[in-house]
Amino acid sequence: MYIDLREWISEMAELGELKRIDAEIDPIEEMASLTYMVGKLDKPPALLFENIKGSAKGRVLFNMFGNSSRRIAYTFGLDPDVSIRDMVPEVKELLKKKKKPEYVNDGPIMENVVFGDDVDITEFPAPKMWPRDGGRYIGTADAIITRDPDSDWINVGVYRQMIVDKKRVGFYSSPGKDVDIIRRKYWERGEPCPVVAVYGTDPLLYLIGSLAFPRGENEFEHVAGIKGSFELIEGQVTGLPIPARAELVIEGYSYPGKTVIEGPFGEFTGYYGRPAEETPYIDIEAVYYRDNPIITSALMAEYPPSDQALFFGICRAAKIWEDLDNLGIPGIKGVYSHPAAAGGFGMTIVSLKQLHPGHASQVLSLSAQCPAGAYYSKIIVAVDDDVDPYDINQVIWALATRFSPKDDITVLKDTWSTWLDPTLNPSDIRPWGSKLLINACKDHKHYEEFSARNLLRKETYERVLKRWREFGIEEDPPRVDVFEEEA
Ligand SMILES: Cc1cc2nc3c(=O)[nH]c(=O)nc-3n(C[C@H](O)[C@H](O)[C@H](O)COP(=O)(O)O)c2cc1C
Repeated sequence: MYIDLREWISEMAELGELKRIDAEIDPIEEMASLTYMVGKLDKPPALLFENIKGSAKGRVLFNMFGNSSRRIAYTFGLDPDVSIRDMVPEVKELLKKKKKPEYVNDGPIMENVVFGDDVDITEFPAPKMWPRDGGRYIGTADAIITRDPDSDWINVGVYRQMIVDKKRVGFYSSPGKDVDIIRRKYWERGEPCPVVAVYGTDPLLYLIGSLAFPRGENEFEHVAGIKGSFELIEGQVTGLPIPARAELVIEGYSYPGKTVIEGPFGEFTGYYGRPAEETPYIDIEAVYYRDNPIITSALMAEYPPSDQALFFGICRAAKIWEDLDNLGIPGIKGVYSHPAAAGGFGMTIVSLKQLHPGHASQVLSLSAQCPAGAYYSKIIVAVDDDVDPYDINQVIWALATRFSPKDDITVLKDTWSTWLDPTLNPSDIRPWGSKLLINACKDHKHYEEFSARNLLRKETYERVLKRWREFGIEEDPPRVDVFEEEA
């Protein structure tokens, strides 16, 4: 498997999944505008900006994943051509793998180390993405590393970070996220919270860091489990772990009661999240970077240009499915958090083989409230096992033919949501949300008498498939999974 971001970039270039941009470009809105426009193409490559106006120190990688299932699959060590339908269950199994990361004394991240008054984070090419953004965001596709003061638990999460000045970076964590909980614990004791932030990160660490693992789980162990190994170095200021092959890392403290104005920031919802507000910041004491470092940036936008939507849709679905497995819920055939629904956060579709009365309703409630599914998600749809949850056309068809608005809706109130949901107005009701559970399965009470589907006979399908080219159709044949059942 690729060893670090640089090897990942070379391999992506070989696969035709990455474009190096050497024409000069402005980090103020121009990089993000090009990324947004490329993100709307059918096969949007990752973009490595190598010539950034006004910034000698470093390069920026945008659209690491974007709308490319090939780059996501490759990052997990899967066949890049695997379908999303096959990738979700494979990712579910991969996310169970765990191994202790190794501590080493040296690594490429130690090529340049700067302490104290020599620290100047403004030297690096941080993009300002959207016209109303509050500043330059050095951290988007990043990783924040903290340690729970009550235990040895190390947490890794992905949180946006805005440059304030040479030595300060503001970070925003939604109420209830691990970083928010850990920082509050230090502050309540009147102690500064030690923080490491990684701005040029291994793609898998970014991906794993953005997922909701149960509290107490160390995300580095998942990365090492999937990659086979992952090297860390003990930070010289805080003792927190620093990925040895990262590109750019800072170390410092977030001091009790010390906040700065941060935002607004154009978000994964496709809206600015919240107005400029006070937020904690990291007082930087050390900067570590490789020569000509690569800052990993994520454009937050609606789908498809959003960097997080597809990978998050796949991985979140895999985690929700795992939560259902862990609860012993049988009959689950597929789960998908559709990327078009606010970066994979807004909607979850679960397909199941209904095994008993109330099964669909149980699956709906648990998918809506399990640890991986509870945050934000507003619409949860249950479909039968003959409906492919990864094919939105089939889901819409199931809604139109199996769901009865007067009988099949449940609303959950006062659920875990976020300041970033634009529908929660007036904004002082945030972050409480609500969830719509839609049962688009055949009514179990009338399952046997439900209208029969007009489906192909399997032998006829296979006969036609064998002669496909004979009919002069150039495209590959479509996959059909559901057939007429002989009485
Ligand atoms: C590109 C990207 C940026 C994100 N930015 C934020 C953010 O600024 N604040 C936040 O609360 N969550 C943000 N998230 C979501 C968190 O990373 C996610 O909820 C994660 O589970 C947090 O991990 P933790 O709770 O283990 O710390 C972002 C996710 C992605 C993919």
